[in-house]
Amino acid sequence: MSEMRGKTLVITGATKGIGKAIGEKFAKQGVNVAFTYNSNKDVAYDIAKEWEETYGIKAKAYPLNILETDEFKPLFESIDKDFDRVDFFVSNAMIYGRPVVGGYGKFMRLKPRGLNNIYTATVNAFVVGTQEAAKRMEKVGGGSVVTMSSTGNLVYIDNYAGHGTNKAAVEAMSRYAATELGEMNIRVNAVSGGPIDTDALKAFTNYEEVKAETVKRSALNKMGQPEDIAGAVYFLCSDEASWITGQTIIVDGGTTFK
Ligand SMILES: NC(=O)c1ccc[n+]([C@@H]2O[C@H](COP(=O)([O-])OP(=O)(O)OC[C@H]3O[C@@H](n4cnc5c(N)ncnc54)[C@H](OP(=O)(O)O)[C@@H]3O)[C@@H](O)[C@H]2O)c1
Repeated sequence: MSEMRGKTLVITGATKGIGKAIGEKFAKQGVNVAFTYNSNKDVAYDIAKEWEETYGIKAKAYPLNILETDEFKPLFESIDKDFDRVDFFVSNAMIYGRPVVGGYGKFMRLKPRGLNNIYTATVNAFVVGTQEAAKRMEKVGGGSVVTMSSTGNLVYIDNYAGHGTNKAAVEAMSRYAATELGEMNIRVNAVSGGPIDTDALKAFTNYEEVKAETVKRSALNKMGQPEDIAGAVYFLCSDEASWITGQTIIVDGGTTFK
């Protein structure tokens, strides 16, 4: 879509999985991409180089730890130096491993510390990132924000209480943001994904079981891939979605209904 060429996407956590697929989708359409990494610096630099060479756009990787929300302001200041505008912001990165101990698990084993970390990574990161992005979008006449959610806030997923409740919270927060940022011509939506085959899912203790169950439950009889999410995010940022704001689009291969 030519209307997208030359615009800028800022996305958190695009070294792999869903974030990488979203970044590449935008890059393919001529959108410049400023994206963040946490632990995979070399991978991130390689991705930026590859997108620049393949798609003729500008792509740059920046460090960010979403648990340190003070990092968002300097992040956007660095992006200001490298990119002339910000049009789209996708809040995608998610923590795993040690920081989610006490947050990923059965209800009786949940601990405030782990739950708070997931809240910070999910809701606070969306709020602070969107605030910084919105200031830039206002200067160019508007923009679009998408937060990643998951259907684990609608249906039971083993050990997912901490993430599921925070995904429900970020969906609600995105509706508040949509209502208040509309006057700046900024649309805000959520994409709620069903299980997608990424490293985050591989970290589930019952990964093989979840995968098999997803294929079984899907109306399309297949596992979700990162690219299956990227199209919906791209659509929500495009002018084709100009009247869509404050919504959650479920992209789950029909797995949630049965
Ligand atoms: N996979 C699913 O089934 C599924 C379904 C629905 C929704 N989602 C949501 O989609 C989003 C992406 O998930 P994914 O499955 O693509 O995950 P993933 O493949 O594990 O990728 C996670 C990304 O987050 C970054 N990251 C990790 N810890 C971070 C931290 N402390 N600070 C900043 N960035 C950090 C990683 O960067 P480094 O590689 O540099 O560490 C990586 O780029 C998440 O919001 C997730 O909840 C996933």
